[in-house]
Amino acid sequence: MAALSTLKAQTRSIDIATCRDDFPVFSREVHGKPLAYLDSAASSQMPEPVMRAYTDYHSRYHANVHRGVHLLSQEATEAMEAARESMRELINARSGKEVIFTSGTTDAINLVMQTYGRSQIGEGDEIIISTMEHHSNIVPWRMLCDEKKAVLKVIPISDDGVIDMEAYESMLSDRTRLVGIVHVSNTLGTINPVKEITRLAHSRDIPVLIDGAQAVSHMKVDVQDIDCDFFATSGHKMFGPTGIGILYGKEEMLSKMPPYRGGGDMIISVSFDEVLFNDLPYKFEAGTPNISGAIGMGKAAEYIQAIGYDAIRHKEQELLKYATEKLSAIDGLRIIGTAPEKSSVVSFVMDGIHPHDIGTILDLEGVAVRTGHHCTQPLMDRLGVVATTRASMAMYTRKEEIDQLTAALQKAVEIFK
Ligand code: ALA
Repeated sequence: MAALSTLKAQTRSIDIATCRDDFPVFSREVHGKPLAYLDSAASSQMPEPVMRAYTDYHSRYHANVHRGVHLLSQEATEAMEAARESMRELINARSGKEVIFTSGTTDAINLVMQTYGRSQIGEGDEIIISTMEHHSNIVPWRMLCDEKKAVLKVIPISDDGVIDMEAYESMLSDRTRLVGIVHVSNTLGTINPVKEITRLAHSRDIPVLIDGAQAVSHMKVDVQDIDCDFFATSGHKMFGPTGIGILYGKEEMLSKMPPYRGGGDMIISVSFDEVLFNDLPYKFEAGTPNISGAIGMGKAAEYIQAIGYDAIRHKEQELLKYATEKLSAIDGLRIIGTAPEKSSVVSFVMDGIHPHDIGTILDLEGVAVRTGHHCTQPLMDRLGVVATTRASMAMYTRKEEIDQLTAALQKAVEIFK
């Protein structure tokens, strides 16, 4: 479709220094102050080209996919499949068959649990995850272990938030059926050695699932190089819409797995006696999908590629260094998560001030951060804190926003003195 290739051409190369201008939200104020948005790990902001792709679908060719012979339906189908191709390219999957649209990372992990997990994991089998997993990579496995009487094993981490690789290796056993690991910790920013984790699991023929929600907006992910069996991510963490994500799965794995949900589009033929399931990737995509979400996410993938991961990584590492230095200089502030390999996330606690109070004060100063357990309660228990304040940065973040955060935190210190 001509409209799509035009959109792709428009975003061939974008300068990271000026990309912030593409994000309309940054022109607004919060409580009369300029917005300092430091909550990109929860949900990143959306650039105008993504919004345009999203609304273009609604205003010009809103129709169902894979179903109509009419032009609008054909255009919608082409645009959604082009989005699949953009996501394939972003993570370097071998083929579009390996890219399943889901409602997000949580849905993708649940897909693996309900299909691979329920069919392959039984009593006494073991699933290995790490201490720093998000609830979305804990709860499905806890549920499965309870149902099947399987065993959930947890890799320990050091005080600075690094996976204990020796402990991990010693936990792999003949009963291990899956390793599920977060690529980048949403709470600590730790970047885990997923390639090595996968290599060790594969030496025992154990499949590996990677929760990549916090990875794709920050660093190049090459699923073929990592060699993982599954990789899950979300559109709204990579400058795209909410309610959409993907599950990457190796074709050989996906083709052996039973379907996830039953319904339209995931079938070749249906009778009351028998159902013939569709080919990949549609076998796992029952019902009308989130078409505009997929199109928006595909555009976001193109947008990231147009900026380039080298530029993103370089800028974010500078921001991380700057934020770490500025925050460390504040009296009574302690950074939680000091791994040598980190993405642009700084979690911290402050003597005598609860993170929720910090969050409220910061909000009044125009600074958006996340406070709480960040959906990582077991990690909080391990680190001996109930909650943290988390400043998370992205490619559009400016040093001035970190200055605004620092000044607001100084104010909090004064108030609580
Ligand atoms: N997982 C998201 C976060 O870390 C919601 O904030």
